[in-house]
Amino acid sequence: MNPARGSLLGIEHLEAAEILRLLKFARRMNPDKPRPLLKGKRVMLLFYESSTRTRSSFEIAAKSMGAHTVLIQSFGSSIEKGESLLDTGYTVRAVGADIIVIRHPNAGAPYVMAQHIDVPVINAGDGLHEHPSQALLDAYTILRNKNTFKGLQVAIVGDIFHSRVARSACHLLSKFGVKIILCGPPELVPDIATTLAPGIRVTRHIDDALRGTDVIMLLRVQSERLSGLKLDLLEYITRYQMNPARLKMAKKDAIVMHPGPIIRGLELTSEIADGAQARILEEVRNGVPTRMAILARAMGKMR
Ligand code: CP
Repeated sequence: MNPARGSLLGIEHLEAAEILRLLKFARRMNPDKPRPLLKGKRVMLLFYESSTRTRSSFEIAAKSMGAHTVLIQSFGSSIEKGESLLDTGYTVRAVGADIIVIRHPNAGAPYVMAQHIDVPVINAGDGLHEHPSQALLDAYTILRNKNTFKGLQVAIVGDIFHSRVARSACHLLSKFGVKIILCGPPELVPDIATTLAPGIRVTRHIDDALRGTDVIMLLRVQSERLSGLKLDLLEYITRYQMNPARLKMAKKDAIVMHPGPIIRGLELTSEIADGAQARILEEVRNGVPTRMAILARAMGKMR
């Protein structure tokens, strides 16, 4: 079965025009001015991994459009008893799901779901693969701050290897000709990362990444994924942590983004996290209208 129309499984195969259409629609969405585009629909939030931002903003987005939401987490559901991904999918469909939002530790899990269940499936993050709604809300945030993608340089710093956020961001930004510089030690940013999308460069030097940069996207150093890697966190902090002195190397009006959760003292200092150039909480806020647009699109209401 082909995925249902309106599914959002990744950014890689989404056309630039469709991305712009989604972002334009998101600008019209406001959770404080509810619009009943999803009145009476049931949105199933199927989370096999922990989440704060993605889960809460999908829930607020769905409710502000009149939908009912049901949260199913692996803990406390029949997933714990060994129910398979597809059997859980068939079950939520049988109880009346109109949209399935799924986060799963395995890359491809949303695709498997979408091939078997006849409702739109939204990927809320799958393993190391993609996090399309995060890339869209980040693009929304960049456009709100910089007005255009034209001529932009974006430095992505941190654990790119383990980051579905970085993967989706690279796919999206490269479709609009953004100059992308990936920065970090080889353990976290292998040279092969340049093949992720057109127009990507890798550097090991933070000053090289920051020079002339409009947007600094920091990524979480995912300590839970680092077992087996010989990464010295102290050395990481010394070489890559974003601090006020380093921020001065970027353009004067550069913005600092981070998908969260942030680890103060590791990827960035508190001066940066709470500073005037940080857009970290703005990204979180922008997640709601962006996810409203994603859900409206899923139901064919993005008009
Ligand atoms: N950015 C992000 O996906 O955050 P959560 O894990 O809190 O959803």
